[in-house]
Amino acid sequence: MATVLSNATAVRVLWRPLTADDVETVAALEARIHAAAWTAGNFHDAIRAGYAARVGTRGGRIVAYGVLMLGPGEAQLLNLSVAPEARREGLGRMLLAQFIETAEHFAAEQIFLEVRVGNAPAITLYEHEGFVAVARRASYYPPSPGGEREDALVMRRSLGRLRVAARAAAGGTDSGDPAAP
Ligand SMILES: CC(C)(COP(=O)(O)OP(=O)(O)OC[C@H]1O[C@@H](n2cnc3c(N)ncnc32)[C@H](O)[C@@H]1OP(=O)(O)O)[C@@H](O)C(=O)NCCC(=O)NCCS
Repeated sequence: MATVLSNATAVRVLWRPLTADDVETVAALEARIHAAAWTAGNFHDAIRAGYAARVGTRGGRIVAYGVLMLGPGEAQLLNLSVAPEARREGLGRMLLAQFIETAEHFAAEQIFLEVRVGNAPAITLYEHEGFVAVARRASYYPPSPGGEREDALVMRRSLGRLRVAARAAAGGTDSGDPAAP
């Protein structure tokens, strides 16, 4: 007998690149999520600049999105956001893993990000995924309404070398091909 999916969390999330058609929706979601939100123009600029930008959709609705800037030898995670109603389902971790894979594919050796010192959910996620705090920028973030400016933690994760080390520990060799699985 066929069963009907009644639980929204049981519907699979589909991941794809962010397109210009998504921008208004993503910017509206961004305004709900962040005190210092990116504008629609910021997202259009990111697409035009060729940044790796992705969305996760469920039932046709965008539930997660993020932007990764790729530079020579390193990548910077500029945005990683999950809709409030879709949190703690593993989507943030999944999107972060996709960006790490993209950065490795483009031969980045490290990936950086900045995060508010008070953003415990994000810091916990990043630490679990191998990021380490390497610096602190005082009063970096503008204040939330009624709040004060907030420091940023700069976090970093090694890429290529970790993969080589993991392969060596597993008894394998590294092909030197950044796109190699
Ligand atoms: C940070 C954020 C992206 C996490 O997304 P998420 O989909 O809820 O996270 P996941 O379900 O993938 O969680 C992965 C891990 O992160 C940690 N984590 C996530 N949310 C957490 C919370 N509220 N409290 C503590 N740890 C948390 C946990 O270690 C979790 O693993 P677990 O569920 O096995 O314990 C999401 O909370 C978000 O969009 N926040 C607002 C935007 C933001 O702050 N972005 C980061 C800016 S740098």
